[in-house]
Formats: sequence, C-alpha cells, structure tokens
Amino acid sequence: MVMGEKRTSVTKTFGILTAGGDCPGLNAAIRGVCRAAYNRYGMSIIGIANGFTGLIEENARLLKPGDFSGILTQGGTILGASREKPFKHETYEAGDIVGDKVLAIKDTYHKLGLDCLVLLGGNGTHTTGYKLACEGLNIIGLPKTIDNDIVGTDRSFGFHSALSIGTEAIDRLHSTAQSHSRVIVIELMGHKAGWLALYAGVAGGGDTILIPEIPYDVNIIARHLKERRQSGKHFSIVVAAEGAMSIEESRMDKKGRKKYRLEHGPSTAYRIAREISDETGIESRATVLGYVQRGGIPSASDRVLATSLGTAAADLLARGEYGRMVALDGNDIVSIDLSVPEGKVKAVPLDHYMIDTARAVGTCMGV
Ligand code: F6P
Repeated sequence: MVMGEKRTSVTKTFGILTAGGDCPGLNAAIRGVCRAAYNRYGMSIIGIANGFTGLIEENARLLKPGDFSGILTQGGTILGASREKPFKHETYEAGDIVGDKVLAIKDTYHKLGLDCLVLLGGNGTHTTGYKLACEGLNIIGLPKTIDNDIVGTDRSFGFHSALSIGTEAIDRLHSTAQSHSRVIVIELMGHKAGWLALYAGVAGGGDTILIPEIPYDVNIIARHLKERRQSGKHFSIVVAAEGAMSIEESRMDKKGRKKYRLEHGPSTAYRIAREISDETGIESRATVLGYVQRGGIPSASDRVLATSLGTAAADLLARGEYGRMVALDGNDIVSIDLSVPEGKVKAVPLDHYMIDTARAVGTCMGV
C-alpha cells in the first residue's frame, strides 16, 4: 500500500457529533476519526452541531481538512455539545410546530445522505445511539467521559485528563490544610460512579476517599481523623465523589434524598465537611473542583487513546461495521456491540484492586 493511496470504503458520507458533558480529548478524537476517514478512505464528513440538537434542527455543515487540523490539543469540542435526550422528551416545539424529535433526527440523517452517524459521548449518548440503531440508523460510538463509567471499555477518554487535574488540586490542598491544621474535603465529579475520586484520591494521597458505591459512616471517618491527629498529623484531606452519600442517605429513596440534600445543602463536600466538624470539632473546609475537571487541554494519555479510538472508528466505517462502539480492552483497541453499554453505568466493583490499594496505604473508605 503506497502512503497516501486511498483505500476502498463502504461508507462514503458520515455525520459526527459530540453529546453529553464535554471533556479534554474530544477534539483529538474528532481529529482521529476525520483525518483517517478523509485521508485514508476519501470519505465526506458532515459535522453536526450541539449533539442530537443539531440533528433535530438540521444544524450541520461539511467539514473540510482545515476544520480537523490543529485541534489535537484543543479542549472542549469544535462541534459543540448538548444533553439532548430525544427518546426521553420525544416532542419539540419550533414556533407553532410540535414535532417528534426521533423522526426529525431520522429525516435529517437521510436528507444529509449519511451512510452512518458517529457519536462521541457517554452513557446517555450510547443509549440514544443504540435506540437509533434499533430504528434503522447506522451508528458507531466512541466512549467519552471524565467519569470513566461506560460499560464495555476499560477506559474512556477524558478520564486521565480529569485525573491529572484532580490530583494536582489535591496536592495543592495539602499545604493549606497543613498550614491551618484543618480537614479539607474536595469534591470531584462522578455522580453515579466513583472512579475519578478513587484514582485521584490514591494519586493525591487522600486520607479518606468517599465514593457512591460505598455509603459512609461519619463516625468511622471521625475516628480515623482523630487517630491521625493523635499520631501527630494535624491535617487531613478527604476526597469525595459528588455522588458520595452517608449510609442514612443510601437508605432513602430518590425523592427523600433530594429533600434531605435541599435541607442540608446540595453540595456533597460542604455537607461532609459540616458532618466532620460536628463529629470531631476539627475545623473543616470544602472545595468543589467542578468544571475545572472538564476544561483545558487533554493529557498525553487521553490524546493517544482518543486518536486510537478515532482511527479505529474510521476503519469500522470503511468496513461498514455499524452498530458498534470502539473500546479499550487492556492494551488493545477493539469494538463491541452497542447493546453492551446501553442503559448501564460501570460502577466501581467493591472488590476492585484500587479499593484494596487505598486501604493498604491506610486510607479510610468511610466504612
Ligand atoms: O460528563 C460527566 C459529568 O461531568 C458528571 O461527572 C457531572 O455530574 C455532570 O457531567 C455534570 O453535568 P452538566 O455538564 O450537565 O452540568
């Protein structure tokens, strides 16, 4: 095969969109898909704006090589994103027109002459993608999220960048907590799965790590923090996922938990800091890292993963292998059926080695 020689492709024209929360690495993935599809297979590429909203509104444009050049290190997504869930809120209003979102998406797909739709997204995006595939559209997915909670892939791009950001923040909190002999609770993203808090907590040397999968007992945390003080460590760092909850909260239903959080403060970090202060009498503070974890340039690891997943998606397009999500399996890039991640969340297994690693170095996991 001569360098630059075009290869044959089943797919001639495809659309590409980014949906759900943004993350570092999205543009690297877009670049990987588009450069391989254009340079190796001569495909035409339609960029869809703002996730599934762009399909509903027919907001799309032909991408040219200049559009997907020089974006490897750029944060965010050149296409824009939204959290539109067309199957959840199925109708929309445009002026006096009330339309069916799924029909609008299918209409746009055919009007644009797409052979396939490439989706870069998390759990919600792949659930929508699977349902669109069941409606007859050709779909290929790439796993994106800082939460790393997509079933079927060992890692999603965005996770390593957020892990670096969270770890640096924890490092910085050590000096100020030590200077003031305080407990500082840092809240990292991760509503349903605690991968980011667990890994950043281990990387940053958090003394306590709280994840949604392990509801905590504040008395056990208090005992751990008091023992630290008695051993001469007059400061502590508590790393909490935004979805972390007490044992009491875990016994509530969704409505009860919402009411509880409205009464006790919506932010996990502030609630836990107050509980710790009440239990131990130690001065405590809270930091919510928030959207900083999703901003800025991708880590080298995420650039490599995003690019590899992107070029693998281009190969699937060329072979006409639709209804798949590209994924990381150990050190290999594979593809799995779209039904695998559909409707699921990859939570941290309670026997995961990283939990034992944390405990082995003396970290309190809240129970
Ligand atoms: O994309 C995942 C995520 O960052 C979660 O960790 C977080 O809870 C959520 O998105 C925030 O959603 P939004 O961007 O809609 O505020």
